[in-house]
Amino acid sequence: MNSPFEFGSVITGAVFLDREEERTRLTLNLSSGINTILISPRRWGKTSLVAQVALENKDPKTVFCFLDLFTIRTEEEFYKKFATQLIKSTSNRWEEWIDTAKKFFGNLAPKFSFGEDPLHDFSITLDYAAIRQSAEEILDLPEKIATEKGIRLVVCLDEFQNIGFFDEPLAFQKQLRSFWQHHKQSCYIIYGSKKHMMAGLFQHQGMPFYRFGDLMWLKKIEQVYWESYIVQGFADTGKSITSTLASRIASLMENHPYYVQFLSYQCWTLTEQECNQEILEKAIQDLINQQSMFYQHETDGLTNLQINFLKAVTSGEKQLTASETVRKYNLGTPGNIKRMLTALENKEIIEINGKTVEIGDPIFKIWIKKYLLK
Ligand SMILES: Nc1ncnc2c1ncn2[C@@H]1O[C@H](COP(=O)(O)OP(=O)(O)OP(=O)(O)O)[C@@H](O)[C@H]1O
Ligand SMILES: [Mg+2]
Repeated sequence: MNSPFEFGSVITGAVFLDREEERTRLTLNLSSGINTILISPRRWGKTSLVAQVALENKDPKTVFCFLDLFTIRTEEEFYKKFATQLIKSTSNRWEEWIDTAKKFFGNLAPKFSFGEDPLHDFSITLDYAAIRQSAEEILDLPEKIATEKGIRLVVCLDEFQNIGFFDEPLAFQKQLRSFWQHHKQSCYIIYGSKKHMMAGLFQHQGMPFYRFGDLMWLKKIEQVYWESYIVQGFADTGKSITSTLASRIASLMENHPYYVQFLSYQCWTLTEQECNQEILEKAIQDLINQQSMFYQHETDGLTNLQINFLKAVTSGEKQLTASETVRKYNLGTPGNIKRMLTALENKEIIEINGKTVEIGDPIFKIWIKKYLLK
């Protein structure tokens, strides 16, 4: 039997939960040609949200183009993939791909290579020198294609923080913005994690993308939604769970979308008919065991002060710089605490929201409680 709970993949359709406010806002932005920047910590549902909005789009004149920067480390790779995806998403047949490419890449003389399924899979090889010379033409492609075809093109750039790896990220961003800000028929959804870094790209006045569009901070999904989602997921597959226990799953995982699905899945697989407290406890222990090597490795890479800091956060201390907390957990100097915050946030172990500091992974938090705070 297929599990009603999914984690680790992009979620769309019937199993996509809530996010009504965000879907409406994003859809409205698209129809008004407003760019959107979407930021959240890892695995809160950015990719799924954009995919769902694209799926719900009913306007045949609005076309989505997806580009994941996850594996892209250089400007050249970016231009190549950008051009390929633009052509793929705006043409239906390969003859049309070639026509489009010829029309818009006049000066670039692209070479095509076809994949295993030539009707649906191809990539464009562009000369390194040609890319350098024609970067501007490539960046203007969305607007040109959209105008020519009479469509609105929504360019979705996932894992955008990866441009931080490029040789000259700032110059590159300036280049992108200088073209994209003039586009009328195409608009952009830019999203990514490493919240700190993404925020740096869009929130700081001196940065090229400052005020490029509507800045959306994705939230977690509220507990009430999870409760009925989990109950329904069990019921749909001939099993059952009480609302109280379903709610407990969500609260133990602090409503973190990925982890709520992860723990729900684990409970669901262990349940034959009706889920109960013992099954829930076993499911959590199984998850801790599965992840334990990774957590051990993660903490091996931390300094003693950083571990002390994680203990303080896990114990629920709110005033982390108060002298009493510093003394109780041996946290070092204020300068040290500041450095720890940055280091742990960069490692994506903690999340900082205003004055609150949280451990990002709720299972890691349980592990710390169990094994480090004894
Ligand atoms: N709206 C949703 N309804 C149900 N589950 C969701 C939803 N959004 C996210 N999830 C859960 O969270 C997981 C991660 O979602 P997704 O990959 O969209 O997040 P992300 O923020 O893009 O992650 P990453 O930072 O790794 O790119 C999904 O596989 C799913 O288990
Ligand atoms: Mg994602």
